[in-house]
Amino acid sequence: MQQETYVIGGYVRDLFLQRNSKDIDIVTVGSGIDLAKKVAQNLHPKPAVTVFKNFGTAMLKYKNLEIEFVGARKESYQRNSRKPVVENGSLEDDQNRRDFTINALALGLNSVNFGELIDPFHGMEDLKNKIIRTPLDPSVTFSDDPLRMMRAIRFSTQLRFEIETKTLQAIATNKERIKIVSPERIIDELNKIILAEKPSVGFKLLEETGLLEIIFPELDKMKGIETVNGIAHKDNFYHTIEVLDRIAPNTDNLWLRWSALLHDIAKPATKKFVDGQGWTFHAHNFIGVKMIPKIFRRMKLPLNEKMKFVQKMVHLHMRPIVLSESEVTDSAVRRLLFEAGDDIDDLMTLCEADITSKNPAKVKRYLDNFKMVRQKLREIEEKDAIRNFQPPVSGELIMETFGLSPCREVGKIKDAIKEAILEGEIHNNYEEAYSYMLKKAGELGLKKKN
Ligand code: CTP
Repeated sequence: MQQETYVIGGYVRDLFLQRNSKDIDIVTVGSGIDLAKKVAQNLHPKPAVTVFKNFGTAMLKYKNLEIEFVGARKESYQRNSRKPVVENGSLEDDQNRRDFTINALALGLNSVNFGELIDPFHGMEDLKNKIIRTPLDPSVTFSDDPLRMMRAIRFSTQLRFEIETKTLQAIATNKERIKIVSPERIIDELNKIILAEKPSVGFKLLEETGLLEIIFPELDKMKGIETVNGIAHKDNFYHTIEVLDRIAPNTDNLWLRWSALLHDIAKPATKKFVDGQGWTFHAHNFIGVKMIPKIFRRMKLPLNEKMKFVQKMVHLHMRPIVLSESEVTDSAVRRLLFEAGDDIDDLMTLCEADITSKNPAKVKRYLDNFKMVRQKLREIEEKDAIRNFQPPVSGELIMETFGLSPCREVGKIKDAIKEAILEGEIHNNYEEAYSYMLKKAGELGLKKKN
């Protein structure tokens, strides 16, 4: 079987950029499915070739590589859908329909041209100069598949490439077309931006092109500075993306990065100028927690414990800083530990990233205070084991001891024990909690059953 065949797209790009890549796209002038079957006769992949008949493609896994085979195509798109009308075509047709010059590079795989680079749009030059550019008129490329506008910004963020001026302008012009793309595809790209080394690059481009207002209006609303009586508040959009950049070196946990992105999301909704106090954002953490499910639902993010984690971080994000501003008492640390539980380290990481002051003395003071809070957290945890607090005396034991059925007194005693532990009046152990229970029950007029 002799069929003109090339390796194309992301794999070739990453090869020249010396980035690891596990997906190989093979394009062939003819049937991709037939070629995949033929290759499988030599490679014996397990599982066997997977054929996607509707798309005319086939995939096989070899070692830890995923190799996808597709026939070269000429595509045209309809205005209201990302689904192309597909026709067979030449390599040139296929390269024409790709998103960016750096993604249209092909290497020959036949014996006559093995390893030969076919680069009709000077993608190599763009790779060298770190430029994202579309092979055709950008309005055509983006209008064909508007997801590519997000991809341009994502690649620019991941690779730290500039988007060429005309290409960037075309994103702004075509921004409304993003509305025909499914939220699942958009969030895929957005998450890749969030997980990049310097996510602010992408968010600035999203803002600049007007895409942000469409896909993430809540974040877009955080832009701007208002001044009353000569007092200005900071620009919460730029603060937020700076926090995201600051957290990036310390965590690759997508949900902790989302917490950074959302920690002040309710500032526009709660903003108020109060005489004598200046700008206030009262309860912005609580309102933020309430805004999160709507944002997650719309963006097709998971509505499970991942979202709950983000809500918890947003809820608690001011606690360590308030704590570090006053005297760091044992009981305040114990309460923080009780509420944050196992997520305490993530919370501290978020709070440290949240210090974006331009005043180095202030930054140092906060970070030193946080060190103290962390130290104190370790000491208290060793002493009192509050992180995964379980009441040392159960409701059942209280009921049994005083011959009670479930009632308010049981709850009261349990709460009193928990409070006494958090306040440091007693230690977190059975003996001290039991004596405290007897004392508290006595105050409530309860008698021990003999
Ligand atoms: N492609 C395209 N338009 C899209 C998606 C993909 O033209 N909307 C083409 C590009 O040539 C791209 C190739 O298909 O290089 C493979 O796409 P994909 O695997 O999604 O992306 P990669 O470029 O491989 O990059 P990454 O793995 O980082 O997503």
